[in-house]
Amino acid sequence: MTGMTMAETAKTAKLTFDDKEIELPILSPSAGPDVLDIRKLYAQGDVFTYDPGFTSTAACDSTITFIDGDLGELLHRGYPIDQLAEKSHFLEVAYLLLYGELPSAVQLEDFEHRVTQHTMLHEQMVYFYRGFRRDAHPMAIMTGVVGAMSAFYHDSTDITDPWQREVATIRLIAKMPTIAAWAYKFSIGQPFVYPRNDLDYASNFLRMCFSVPAEEYEVNPILSRAMDRIFTLHADHEQNASTSTVRLASSSGANPFACIAAGIACLWGPAHGGANQACLEMLREIGTVDRIPEYIARAKDKDDPFRLMGFGHRVYKNFDPRAKVMKQSADEVLELLGVENNPTLQVAKELERIAIEDPYFKEKKLYPNVDFYSGIILDAMGFPTSMFTPIFALARTVGWISQWKEMIADPQMKIGRPRQLYVGATMRDYVDVEDR
Ligand code: SDX
Repeated sequence: MTGMTMAETAKTAKLTFDDKEIELPILSPSAGPDVLDIRKLYAQGDVFTYDPGFTSTAACDSTITFIDGDLGELLHRGYPIDQLAEKSHFLEVAYLLLYGELPSAVQLEDFEHRVTQHTMLHEQMVYFYRGFRRDAHPMAIMTGVVGAMSAFYHDSTDITDPWQREVATIRLIAKMPTIAAWAYKFSIGQPFVYPRNDLDYASNFLRMCFSVPAEEYEVNPILSRAMDRIFTLHADHEQNASTSTVRLASSSGANPFACIAAGIACLWGPAHGGANQACLEMLREIGTVDRIPEYIARAKDKDDPFRLMGFGHRVYKNFDPRAKVMKQSADEVLELLGVENNPTLQVAKELERIAIEDPYFKEKKLYPNVDFYSGIILDAMGFPTSMFTPIFALARTVGWISQWKEMIADPQMKIGRPRQLYVGATMRDYVDVEDR
């Protein structure tokens, strides 16, 4: 049990069925709903629970991130995301997620130095990129290259060794911007740009993406601050689909690079991290404010698979607090870039206004999520839509690694092995082909 605050309570729940009466402990968290401990249910009652999509299931205990979906709150180690976005910066938030407390000035300087010293890739990894088609989606490239890291960094794949876990942690956080930037450069046929140790994390990423050998590149501090804030807003988010993928893959003892590659693959889906690309493409397809009602109608039509990308959330049934910060950042960045009249932003704001006033969306508690405004900022910064999810993956690597470290260090950790409600054919004998 990792949670220092998960308290066993005297409370129990009684389950009676058939001729059985089972008493189950109730666990009280430091925040959020109580948890019914069903670990002994199958042994005592010979029954499983059934919860496709795990909408009512706590798969682990954790001390890293807490979301209150009704209040629209997001805490990282207890600190609200809006305060971190305003007062902190990505590598400091990374330290907080990884080690549990805000760093002292000395701890922060040491951590940032260690990350900076690991931003380069093994030179041989350049050849992996050349194996892809130029039009390969950068997420396909990132999944492949991150997985391939386990073929290069053998000295940090033994998860039973705390030192190797720490080295893998720093390597993944440090190298993700280089891997993502090189995926972008490869897709546009420009030479790879190497990281520089005199630049901060976000500035390094922007320079690796947008500089060319033919001229000097000055990082715009406005864009660098916006980039860093976008990283912070995407860092971690409890047991979302990709984090749960990383935890399940890691529970078999697989090496951290392979597990993070699994998380990248899961994040790519349009229902998850791929929504930022899908959302901007949807806003562009809508094009003008007068076409919004047509799309609102489609989103409400049960026979139409169309959904408003960037809207809705498994947990938030109020505003996603990250969307609020992102919307404010979009206003600031686009105004500072002199594109405040960006038609896509106007469509987004009008779509948000109409949607959240619509009875359907109110009833279903559908609000803009983190992906609704992020694409508008990234587009204004010069990124193609295909780079939106790689940027999400870059930032979420810190969350995936933090959750991975927490799980691996948990003495109760065991391989994940969900059961099922089997509704297929019962035992029957083989039929020879001539008798079918
Ligand atoms: C992320 O888990 C996380 O924390 C994820 C994330 C993170 O940081 O890791 O926050 C990042 O993935 C954000 C979500 C990005 N995805 C999108 O923006 C895609 C569009 N959103 C939907 O696909 C949907 O809202 C989900 C997938 C996000 C949530 O799905 P749920 O909770 O399973 O909700 P649901 O599919 O059961 O929908 C409930 C109802 C349904 O109607 P009924 O069947 O009850 O009649 O709401 C409707 C849905 O049809 N609905 C939508 C809708 N989302 C849900 N209708 C129109 N447009 C939408 N976007």
